[in-house]
Amino acid sequence: MLEDVLIAPSILSADIANLGQDLEAISTADFVHVDVMDGHFVPNLTFGPNVVKAVKRVTSIPADVHLMISNPDDMVGLYLEAGADVVTFHWEAATHAHRIVSAIHDAGAKAGISLNPATPVSALDAIIEDLDLVLIMSVNPGFGGQCFIPGTLRKLRQVRALCAERGVNPLIEVDGGVGAANAAGIVEAGANLLVAGSAVYGKQDRAAAIAEIREAGRSGLTRRA
Ligand code: DX5
Ligand code: ZN
Repeated sequence: MLEDVLIAPSILSADIANLGQDLEAISTADFVHVDVMDGHFVPNLTFGPNVVKAVKRVTSIPADVHLMISNPDDMVGLYLEAGADVVTFHWEAATHAHRIVSAIHDAGAKAGISLNPATPVSALDAIIEDLDLVLIMSVNPGFGGQCFIPGTLRKLRQVRALCAERGVNPLIEVDGGVGAANAAGIVEAGANLLVAGSAVYGKQDRAAAIAEIREAGRSGLTRRA
């Protein structure tokens, strides 16, 4: 298989008092998704660089750090120093997106840009060639357990088309309301990296939940035109 479906459980839905155990439980995942919220860009407050450091201490799964913060230009360095393997910031929050991407690459990490549900894919037009990852939000960022916004599928098809037109192949990540029930359609539309918070940590058997979402996603890969 040329392309596979990658799974990134979000520790937003983990038991933070038992984070070590909750990371062990997802050892079959491809990334650990770390949701950084600042109480300003989004109406919730979560993890800082110390949590990224803690994650890096206890697991070898690459850390996929999703910055939902107002000032990524000023803050990105802290998350790079903390050991983030992928840093994704929001296009809506960045002042100098290209400079942030360069800073991420200079630190040896992978760079992603995320778009909120109301931000058009055309926002990526001038920077798509520089990205390792595009994150399409399928909920309004801030909380786990929200419902998937159906219009995301159209945006995923647009991202795929833009990448094909430019001859680039970034990871295409989707975040919010993703689970085994809708993974096939999401992958068919263009995603290959699925974030799942409640759909993994809401289940007793996390490895089984990851496997189920991955299998559902793979069926979407085979359905792609
Ligand atoms: C939402 C966060 C997500 C969240 C997803 O703002 O960016 O990563 O953890 O949670 P679920 O999968 O429960 O929708
Ligand atoms: Zn996220």
